[in-house]
Amino acid sequence: MIQQKDHFDLDPHHIYLNGAYMSPQLKSVARIGIENLNRKNRPYEISESDFFSEKTVLKKRFAQLINAPDPEAIAIIPSVSYGIANVIRNITFEKGDEIVLLQEQFPSNYYAWKQLETSHNVTVRIVTAPAVETGRAERWNEALLQAVTENTKVVAVPHVHWADGTLFDLALLRKRTNEVNAYLIVDGTQSVGALPFSVEDIAPDALICGGYKWLLGAYGLGVAYFGERFYQGTPIENNWMNHEGSENFANLVNYNERFKAKATRFDVGESSQFILVPMLSEGIRQLLQWTPEAIQEYCRNITKDVLKTLPKKHFYIEDPKYRAQHLFGIYPKNDFSIPKLKEHMAAQNISVSYRGQSIRVSPNVYNTEDDIKRLTTCLLDAIS
Ligand SMILES: Cc1ncc(COP(=O)(O)O)c(C=O)c1O
Repeated sequence: MIQQKDHFDLDPHHIYLNGAYMSPQLKSVARIGIENLNRKNRPYEISESDFFSEKTVLKKRFAQLINAPDPEAIAIIPSVSYGIANVIRNITFEKGDEIVLLQEQFPSNYYAWKQLETSHNVTVRIVTAPAVETGRAERWNEALLQAVTENTKVVAVPHVHWADGTLFDLALLRKRTNEVNAYLIVDGTQSVGALPFSVEDIAPDALICGGYKWLLGAYGLGVAYFGERFYQGTPIENNWMNHEGSENFANLVNYNERFKAKATRFDVGESSQFILVPMLSEGIRQLLQWTPEAIQEYCRNITKDVLKTLPKKHFYIEDPKYRAQHLFGIYPKNDFSIPKLKEHMAAQNISVSYRGQSIRVSPNVYNTEDDIKRLTTCLLDAIS
């Protein structure tokens, strides 16, 4: 794959290495957003079938992206917290059940689980991150597997850690959760779109994704896969559209108490989202064309040689085998000044994020090897 900067409207003088914060907008996504914003100028041109047709396209594309055979297994959600709330609503918890989470995982995949300690007498087990030194990610993966026991009801983790890109072996985790009949809930927000994911291979019970990062959509809309264990579930809200027969507008006065099939019941109210749905759909269309495999490869190629130039004495970066290529943490060791780094970065117009102790770098197909070189120059300058 070659660099794809032309597809975006980025300032050519800015080095954006922060896709994990939010993606820049594809020009095609912006165009579709504006077109659809303007459609409401003439509401008589919006038909009843339009309430459903774009949603179907989005679900088909997302299902294809994650290799899920059935688009009806996909729900449209406004946020990750919403998807997690639906998951929690449909698991029966008993006193003593354990929920396994990772240290410092994203709050939308933490608070709701933690609350269950008070409401349902369950125990949240946080798998702590090992010290920042060689083999950290491997040991963290081992500790995660070991935390799963006969008492485990749910393991709710990301595919890659949002703060530093640590990669978790979901295939092994699925095997282990199956042994103890625990749910496997995956937050794919920082991976799906840029890192291959296959529902056929991993078979998670749910995969929840915010749409405005690696899926290249607008802020405010995401997508979720729900597996069979949720097909008879009760959604957290009743909206007219997640009940059967809603396509027939004239007949909506004759209430139908039955929810729609499979994951469609978990669609958020007003999920037709005439602006955001086609925007996210277009982002995913582009990703299907580029492919997550090629995006990983592209990010690997622009980073691999340059990152080797950072002396190990001063920086820790996880072994590329155990981290994502599109999102990784650089941990400075002693004698490093974050304020100085921030100054250099501002002067060079470089965006990254600072999460916990990690300098989070998250490139994509609009970046070049030269961008990474400029970043490493700033990092070396900040060693005092
Ligand atoms: C791993 C992860 N999950 C979820 C989110 C967003 O959550 P929500 O959609 O609930 O705002 C983020 C945002 O940074 C994230 O990094």
